[in-house]
Parts: sequence; C-alpha cells; structure tokens
Amino acid sequence: MRIEKTSTSRLESTDFNNLKFGEIFTDHMFVCDYEDGKWDDPRIIPYKPIEIEPSANVLHYGQAVFEGMKAYKDDLGKVWLFRPTENYKRITISSERLAMPELGENIFLSALNELLTLDKGWVKPGIGNSVYIRPFIFGSEHCIAAAPSNKYKFMIILSPVQSYYTGSIKVLVAEKYSRAASGGVGYAKAAGNYGSQFYPTSLAQRQGYDQIIWTDSKNHKLLEEAGTMNIFFRIDNTLITAPTTDTILDGITRKSIIKIAEDNNINVEVRHISIDEVIEAHSKGILNEIFGSGTAVLVSEISSFGYKGKNYNLKKIENSYAATLKSIITKIQYNLTPDPYGWRSEVSAIKV
Ligand code: COI
Repeated sequence: MRIEKTSTSRLESTDFNNLKFGEIFTDHMFVCDYEDGKWDDPRIIPYKPIEIEPSANVLHYGQAVFEGMKAYKDDLGKVWLFRPTENYKRITISSERLAMPELGENIFLSALNELLTLDKGWVKPGIGNSVYIRPFIFGSEHCIAAAPSNKYKFMIILSPVQSYYTGSIKVLVAEKYSRAASGGVGYAKAAGNYGSQFYPTSLAQRQGYDQIIWTDSKNHKLLEEAGTMNIFFRIDNTLITAPTTDTILDGITRKSIIKIAEDNNINVEVRHISIDEVIEAHSKGILNEIFGSGTAVLVSEISSFGYKGKNYNLKKIENSYAATLKSIITKIQYNLTPDPYGWRSEVSAIKV
C-alpha cells in the first residue's frame, strides 16, 4: 500500500471539545480504484477533494454504498474496532444488491488498520470520544447509460466525534412515507436509503419531532426502524425488536444488544411489533422504554412518540435496559472489561 503523509497536520489546531458530528476529518484518507475487473492501487493520501467527472455514474444513478464504524482508544493508548468483519460482510451484501463488485476482506481490513494507525492521534481516549469511520464505494465511470459502472472507488474517511444526539429524542410514527418496501434495498446500506429519508424527516421536524419511526410500506402498522437506527420496545420486561427482513438494516449494534440482553437474562423477542400493540401497552402503563440503536448513536433513548395527531410520553425509568445495555457494550468497546464475545479487535497495521 502506498502511503503519502500530509505535511500540514490539522490535529493540533482541532478543537476536540466542540465537535459537531461528521464535520471534521482527520489528516488522511484511503483510496482504491476498481477498473478492468480488479481493485488496484490501494493508497493512503492526505484528506482532500477528489475529482470526478460530471458524468460519473454515482451522480446520476446513485450506485453508492457505505458503512458506519467507530474506533475507540483505551487508557493505554491502544485503538480498538468493534466487530469490523461484520461491517465487511454487510458492505459485501450492500454492494451485491447495487450490482457493485466485491471488495475483498483483506483490502477492507488492512485499509482500516493502516489508516487508523497513521491517524491514531485523532482518536481521543475517554468514553464518548471516538473516531467515526466511513468506508464507502461508488460508481465512478463517466458514462450516463443507465447501467452498472465499470469503474468504482473504495474510500475511507475518518471523523472525530462525540455523541450524536444529546439527551432523549422524540419520534413520529410514519403514516404516509416509507423508508423501504419489500423487494427493495432497505436491508442494504445504500446511500439512497438515507437521502430519501430527509424530506419526510424534515416534515416531522417541523412538527417538533427529531426522527421518524418507519413503518411497513403496505399498511403503515409494523414498526421497522427509527431514523437511521434499529428500534427496540420494552413492554413490561420483554424487549421486542423487528426481525431483519429485506426492509430492515441488519444493525451490528442491534445484534450485539440482542446477544448482551439475552446473556443478562433479559427476555428478548425478535418479531414484528405494530403501533396498535405499542399504544395498547402505553395505555396499560406497561410500555416501559423505547430506544434506537446504531453505530453513530450506540443507544438512543426515545422519550415520546407521535401517532395520528396524538403524542405519547414515556416515563423516565430507573435502571433502564437502554442504560444497562449501553454501559455493557461501551465497556467492551473501550477495553474496560473482558470481551467474552471476541468482538473487540486492536488496530495493528496489517500489511496488504
Ligand atoms: C450509523 O449509525 O453508522 C449510521 O448509519 C448513521 C449515519 C447515517 C450517521
């Protein structure tokens, strides 16, 4: 792998106490090109604008997939990733759905290792501090025929972050718009899945909500995801989350939470859950918690939800499952506890 280091690091001039999510990027980025049926020229170069032609496939047909990951630093200065091979598996699934070429696990993992080794000074220790990692692949061929690109770029950029949301959030249950339909791309981390959420979400925000709870596209009854997160409901003492069908992203935080909850004697049901069931539980006083999960937020508590013009508040409860599960997973991520699952992996410059 070629490495070109920056001559003007921005590390010292970055204010790590006032980071807005995803606005600041580290000194370097990874780039690799796909052409003539193979990935070639893996390189790390200074973070900077890239040139693409106006006719590039991604600008017209949106052949683009991405991943979200984080790097954490422990008190000894070691940098850790959380289940990176799961991200590799998922980007492969996403790429296949978008008719894009497979990357190869070695390119993915060694790129992460080399880039994070070089920019490890940007990963600050302390719970809440991390570097958000954004691997992405897009069609770069200059051709506006509606067909898969013959050229792609795989890139990784890194952004130092703190928390995504501060405090709990309010969500609106979707009655008209959908995030995904059966047979579509909902299970893939395709760029278009996110762009298409912006308009309905902006309408919800005008009504005072932060995010939308996405419902099934047929009847708008089954609760699928919340904004860019998977979603969990605690009814009485049972934690319920939707199964990962082709409309739901197979969240890595989601599946880690399910495993940790089960191992901590929390009853988990992976099944469809409808808005009617949630409202009934609320009226009986047994809707104890709703929370979202994802890489960016980890676990985000939901304080109220809106449906058909009515708002339903949730009481703040002691020892919430959200707080308990967040704490266990955080300790694993920051190397503060043994990792019985083998989920944590140290960044240590594997060569391509
Ligand atoms: C993540 O949690 O990684 C996400 O996908 C959220 C991102 C779109 C900000």
